[in-house]
Amino acid sequence: MSNIQLAFTINRSHIDDSGAELSRRQQQYSLGVNDRMTVLDALEVIRRDQDTSLMYRHSCHHGSCGTCGMLINGERKLACLTQATKLETEMIELQPLRNMKVIGDLAVDPSPLFPDFPKGAAYIRRSEVNRDGRKPFELDHWERFEDCIECGLCVSSCPVTESFMGPAALAAHNREIINRRERRGELLGEVNVPRGAWPCTRALNCSRACPTGVYPAKHIAELRKKIEQDGLTPAAEPGEKRAQ
Ligand code: SF4
Ligand code: FES
Repeated sequence: MSNIQLAFTINRSHIDDSGAELSRRQQQYSLGVNDRMTVLDALEVIRRDQDTSLMYRHSCHHGSCGTCGMLINGERKLACLTQATKLETEMIELQPLRNMKVIGDLAVDPSPLFPDFPKGAAYIRRSEVNRDGRKPFELDHWERFEDCIECGLCVSSCPVTESFMGPAALAAHNREIINRRERRGELLGEVNVPRGAWPCTRALNCSRACPTGVYPAKHIAELRKKIEQDGLTPAAEPGEKRAQ
């Protein structure tokens, strides 16, 4: 297995406990990378051998936990699923996801993603089910989030950055309505609000960015259609496109 020397240019930012950014700069590291290493593997080696102060988020290392999203050469990707040499550049630029609060270097705060997800939804992923074990009762219901890993890449790519529930939470609402029809009225009520299904400008960035094929834009379109089918008065007009 051959090693090639790559440069990694990484956004460094120092944020204090109050959330204020004290400094921001780009720092270069050089690393020998083989063709089996992902960008996350490279970060792990850089942190271990060159700079223990480097901050980034990670957990599963196999595209399941959704924590390692970042901009890799300007594109939103999961670092653990991105092979470094396949990028075919001698310099790899790493930046934190946009539209999300940076807590240090490449690490962003994912917490704003979650409050708008539907309450009371069951939560288990197919990857977390022991294939040889007994499946949870009513598995169809429990698999609601099997494909959304809450990585935030869709939110980071969305041109609507204010007063909007965002593509991940809206997709989760539609999935819950599909799985539990008895909740349709309640959940359509939650998304038929000015910051719900209406500010979407159909840019489709979310569907392109999603690494697991959720296609949030399709779910948002379906929510709007359901609001119309149920004779509800739309809470707002579809939004104006805002600056990225
Ligand atoms: S919908 Fe896709 S891009 Fe958005 S949080 Fe879920 S997995 Fe990530
Ligand atoms: S480390 Fe879990 S998705 Fe990348």
